[in-house]
Amino acid sequence: MTYDVVADFGRRIRLGMVGGGLDSVIGRTHLVSLRADGLCELTAGAMSVDPAVAKQSAKQELIANDRIYLDYQEMADQERKREDGIDAVVIATPPQIHFRVAKAFLENGIDAICEKPVTRDLDEAIELKKLIGAQDRLFCLTHCYSGYPMVRQARDMVRSGALGEVRLIEGELCAGDPGVAREPEDPATRHWRFRAASMGKGAIMGEVASHAHHIVSYVTGLKVEQVSAELSTFAKGREVYDNSYVTARFEGGARGRIWGSYMASGNDHGLSFRIFGEKAGLTWHQEDPEVLWFKPIGKPSVRMARGYDCNSDDSLAGSRFRPGHPEGYALAFANLYSDFAQAIMYRKLGRDPSVFLNRIPGIDDGVSVMALIEAAFRSYNNDGKWTDVSGGTA
Ligand SMILES: NC(=O)c1ccc[n+]([C@@H]2O[C@H](COP(=O)([O-])OP(=O)(O)OC[C@H]3O[C@@H](n4cnc5c(N)ncnc54)[C@H](O)[C@@H]3O)[C@@H](O)[C@H]2O)c1
Repeated sequence: MTYDVVADFGRRIRLGMVGGGLDSVIGRTHLVSLRADGLCELTAGAMSVDPAVAKQSAKQELIANDRIYLDYQEMADQERKREDGIDAVVIATPPQIHFRVAKAFLENGIDAICEKPVTRDLDEAIELKKLIGAQDRLFCLTHCYSGYPMVRQARDMVRSGALGEVRLIEGELCAGDPGVAREPEDPATRHWRFRAASMGKGAIMGEVASHAHHIVSYVTGLKVEQVSAELSTFAKGREVYDNSYVTARFEGGARGRIWGSYMASGNDHGLSFRIFGEKAGLTWHQEDPEVLWFKPIGKPSVRMARGYDCNSDDSLAGSRFRPGHPEGYALAFANLYSDFAQAIMYRKLGRDPSVFLNRIPGIDDGVSVMALIEAAFRSYNNDGKWTDVSGGTA
């Protein structure tokens, strides 16, 4: 992994963060990841909906006083006017406001890194895609697990034909720790992801099934054309679905299943995929992310590991340390930041940024996920009938 472009660019990419404050779940992950490779710095923030937390969070990151904001729109407007204004915004708020926040910055000529699920619903996702196009901005969606080198390796192996034609696709994210498998005693203390008022009854699909869907789409390059869905609520007193089984018909004839759950009691995280082609299969588990199993039919299985010179270029581009020195979640997440930062630098230097953008999720991935969720709802409300996925397959 080399970052020679930063010397030509002459400075780090300046980021501003909306959300991600001390009162958030995901903020710390971004703060670690954005700094991992020294390509980005955090120079502005509207880091919480709570003014005191917003100030405290930004001060802790040594953000200058005049760049600590209590309102993201003001941050977008002010940063645009500065000579040293931010290059990109990091959107780490709940998804129901992603669209509004992204719009404020994109319309001010600022690129965006946005948490998943991309928006509240499919209509907003399509609207956002149009806006990004109209403003000619760069956009990265943090489906972070696609940053793992061995996930990229899997994608490159599928592309190279190592599996032959892909037939069966299984993706799942099935967590089950007490924090997600049970409702709090006092419903007033529920996190937004368990409230129907925030994202509708499908909030948890956006939280977990979205990752399962994205990772199999990323690796296979195949889009889901039709779904049949079974959505359930198991936790007592819960108002949103907490388990989704989506059977999927992929383009080209492959068939698969996408499972998103907070009810897999005892599971820590549970993101994995298994992909089977006519010649071989691939298996990967997020909790053992340095290893990818390649299983050719009728031959011994091959345990592939991160960091070896025989791995693909994209896999090695996301790899820092020698084999056997685990890099893990934060550095997989950091790969999205580093690729996006380099894409921004390349574009500003008049070079083609596509090598970086091709490796990381963008708005099309966001639209596909929202289209899948929307179709799963229609299917479930129609007794699980096969239902076309619209909007996301274009
Ligand atoms: N990539 C992943 O694996 C991953 C993991 C967890 C969460 N997420 C996603 O990250 C996003 C945030 O999730 P979370 O669990 O951290 O949520 P959270 O509720 O814990 O934190 C949200 C943050 O946004 C702030 N916020 C809310 N409204 C704001 C506003 N108007 N202006 C400024 N700040 C505002 C809150 O104060 C808080 O700091 C969601 O989209 C979620 O799906 C992604």
